[in-house]
Amino acid sequence: MIVAGARPNFMKIAPIASELDRLGINNTFVHTGQHYDQSMSDNFFEELNIKPPDFNLNVGSDTHARQTAKIMEAFEPIVTELKPSFLVVVGDVNSTLATALTAIKLGIKVAHVEAGLRSFDKTMPEEINRIVVDHISDILYAPSHDGVINLQNEGLIDKSELVGNVMVDTLTQHIESARNRPIVSKIADGNYGLLTLHRPSNVDDKKVLTNLIETVSEISKTLKIIFPCHPRTKDKIREFDLPTTFKVIDPVSYLDSIALQASAKVVLTDSGGMQEESTILGVPCLTLRNNTERPITVTEGTNFIVGNDKSKILSTFFDVISKDFKATMPYMWDGQASKRIVLSLISKLR
Ligand code: UD1
Repeated sequence: MIVAGARPNFMKIAPIASELDRLGINNTFVHTGQHYDQSMSDNFFEELNIKPPDFNLNVGSDTHARQTAKIMEAFEPIVTELKPSFLVVVGDVNSTLATALTAIKLGIKVAHVEAGLRSFDKTMPEEINRIVVDHISDILYAPSHDGVINLQNEGLIDKSELVGNVMVDTLTQHIESARNRPIVSKIADGNYGLLTLHRPSNVDDKKVLTNLIETVSEISKTLKIIFPCHPRTKDKIREFDLPTTFKVIDPVSYLDSIALQASAKVVLTDSGGMQEESTILGVPCLTLRNNTERPITVTEGTNFIVGNDKSKILSTFFDVISKDFKATMPYMWDGQASKRIVLSLISKLR
């Protein structure tokens, strides 16, 4: 059984589900409904050829406790009835935590894909989800060495396997179609930076969000900025009545996001996945956070951690904009991670 619930899950489960299907392995797909807008969910199914979910729990948005509880309550009867050999969960969203916790208490083996990532910042809800899911799961599939080291430090090495990054599988499968998308020529003339912002720590506080919007406005005097805006951020910009002097558009689909990143001069983001995608594409990335759970994108990739300090963001921006960067592929980021995961699951079944 595979679970996905929120936008950053869909590109991670797609290659695993398709590998299971290719090998004729019976699998059930559950969508929790944590994300439900066309632009946050359905578009990904169409573009990534993900089969329609066998079950949709339709939980929608709520507080952390209520959303997690609703997922657990709706998921329990399904997992009880189907008793899968394994539950495969990906990433660090509330759907990951809720379904892993439900299954493990029912004696179902849980495999966590993207295990071992740590920002060491427990103010991030995702960090709490990562720690709990890793500690309760039976099999931990780490995307990179740093993840394995974190798992070792937490006494979890016996359950861990380094398999590479499933995001790379999806990106390499779809990069050609992404490059053919008209979005870049339609809304940008090839000379632009791409902004995304949705972390509660960046958007929920008026002072912090105002400072970030002002900083990007400053950048937009030099380089046109395109801002596909998450619904949470859109609400906050409206609530705080913040003027934006750059182009704000609706959230974009997976292929459009890759197309926009691939042709951007710079990516400014607080997303985890985009730190990885920009590294693979060789585009400089300014991470608008004080830490990252993906340090390999800094040590081996194109990522710069700039926080939300205006002068640091501006100086790094002017520094990177004139430089050439090359795409880098950390160890095992070779497009074969989902194959390794499925082979590993099969060997455990036997
Ligand atoms: C969630 C994940 C985060 C991930 C992000 C990607 C958790 C704890 N957080 O954060 O790790 O980076 O997804 O987007 O699981 N909303 C809509 N339409 C939707 C979904 C959400 O309008 O389809 C709005 C609602 O107002 C909702 C808010 O966005 O309250 C936040 O959604 P939620 O799923 O709670 O968290 P994200 O901020 O999206």
